[in-house]
Amino acid sequence: MVSMLVTISGVPGTGKTHVAKALVERLNKDVKSRKDRYKLVDLNKLAKDKEAFIGYDKRRRSKIVEMKSLKNEVKELSKENKNLVVEGLFAHFFDSDILIVLRCNPISLEKRLKKKYKWQTKIDENVEAELIGVIIEESLPIHKPGTVFEVDTTGKTVKQTSKILESILENEDEKMNYVAGKIDWLRV
Ligand SMILES: Nc1ncnc2c1ncn2[C@@H]1O[C@H](COP(=O)(O)OP(=O)(O)O)[C@@H](O)[C@H]1O
Ligand SMILES: [Mg+2]
Repeated sequence: MVSMLVTISGVPGTGKTHVAKALVERLNKDVKSRKDRYKLVDLNKLAKDKEAFIGYDKRRRSKIVEMKSLKNEVKELSKENKNLVVEGLFAHFFDSDILIVLRCNPISLEKRLKKKYKWQTKIDENVEAELIGVIIEESLPIHKPGTVFEVDTTGKTVKQTSKILESILENEDEKMNYVAGKIDWLRV
């Protein structure tokens, strides 16, 4: 079997961490050989573990990730592991065989983010980023055509969403339904 590097991106609250975990569990369920197992990489955690930060963004109240060393870390992991699922806010800036961007209707996203953050500016900024589709806009020019997909998580459970992601990886026909560029919250 060929190797597979899957990245999962999306604005905070779209469900990357939950969905990636459920996806990897699904993918590994029927894997017989240890070397074929998918390894899950949480970029937030990896950045913390490796202290891959170059500073602090006061306005956003968050650390600034050092992309170059983080990319090297992922490269090393992909040498040790044939199959990887890499998830995080900036996962779309990494090389991948398949990039899946999780989307969520901005109204539902705001509800999810209110549970996650107390700080309204942070909530507003992320809702706005999703509304205008920032991640897809950043992704399309830097990835091969036909390798970027997007999945609307609105009204779905984590389990349902992870099933869709599995079908994108394993079913060529299903895959076509999720080619990036269809979701536009400003048009609906
Ligand atoms: N369809 C869905 N897919 C993923 N997460 C969902 C979904 N519906 C609701 N959620 C909820 O959204 C919240 C944010 O999920 P999380 O994985 O932390 O997002 P992220 O890692 O993208 O910031 C969680 O509480 C999760 O249970
Ligand atoms: Mg997360």
